[in-house]
Amino acid sequence: MDSLIIRTPDDFHVHLRDGGMLGAVAVFTARQFGRAIVMPNLEPPVITTEQALDYKSRIAAALPAGSAFVPLMTSYLTEDSDSDDIERGFVEGVLTACKLYPAGATTNSSRGVREIEKVYPVLAVMERIGMPLLIHGEVTDPEIDIFDREAVFIERILTKLIAAFPALKIVLEHITTSDGVGFIEASGGNIAATITPHHLEFNRNAMFQGGFRPHFYCLPIAKRESHRLAVRRAATSGSAKFFLGTDSAPHRQGAKESACGCAGVFNAPCALESYAKTFEEENALHHLEAFASVSGATFYGLPLNEGTITLERSGCDIPFTYGEGADAVVPFHAGETLAWKLIS
Ligand code: NCD
Ligand code: ZN
Repeated sequence: MDSLIIRTPDDFHVHLRDGGMLGAVAVFTARQFGRAIVMPNLEPPVITTEQALDYKSRIAAALPAGSAFVPLMTSYLTEDSDSDDIERGFVEGVLTACKLYPAGATTNSSRGVREIEKVYPVLAVMERIGMPLLIHGEVTDPEIDIFDREAVFIERILTKLIAAFPALKIVLEHITTSDGVGFIEASGGNIAATITPHHLEFNRNAMFQGGFRPHFYCLPIAKRESHRLAVRRAATSGSAKFFLGTDSAPHRQGAKESACGCAGVFNAPCALESYAKTFEEENALHHLEAFASVSGATFYGLPLNEGTITLERSGCDIPFTYGEGADAVVPFHAGETLAWKLIS
């Protein structure tokens, strides 16, 4: 098989940033996907419906005229979030979901949630109106080893949250562990997970191969090989509980290659090419369309995209950087050639 045509996919987790970076990166996501769930962790974060509407228009302005790409906006939950505003934003179609960042878990999460019970009134409203809660599922307790933070989050926080709100729609974002996979498989139809291309492709050793490699550092951090294999099995299984969310998270090269480098992998330019690589290696290309274009939209209650995209086995060369000088960003697979190429 040398070409693959699938229904236009969606990205259910992306960081499009703001300002100059937004202008530089939005086109890559818009070229690959029909829609994307846009993360609200700007500085300052996107909290209110009005802020989400403003951000949405900045995204539209960053795209070429006539772009059909649809950004799906999210609200960043804080302990002071206004449930009336969130309900209004959802009912009016401005907001698609709310994002829960445990305070301090990742980039720009300092305004996130310290005590989960403080957002229970908002979660009750979301459960009632069918609005999905997207979770960065890592505890922030410094006593917990960084490689255990996802498993401990599930055990300490997520089980409690689900017991309190059994009908709440939840997406456990960017899962990285067999614990995450097992938890999702065992839970009800209102709970699903996204999986990134990078967590499918490398394990934690990639960060230390011959020296420290900051471009493989992201959060949640890559885990040991057995976890990667579990996540690969889940993604390529055909199960509707696991779907595509790239977590493309660009940072300037200088901010990554630093004494205190930022977390994030910029995979937007080659996201579908990367997923196709994994699905082909697992002899599961026939499940790529469900993972990329059907299961996520169905979970969110969105209509499926009408169009198609074509991948061809013609070789996709990835540059070492996008942008110049201080604005350079190093992409996932920098300097490599991937077998599959998105041609339209
Ligand atoms: C993300 C970012 O840079 O905004 N970083 C990352 O490593 N994934 C934040 C996040 O999703 O955790
Ligand atoms: Zn993210």
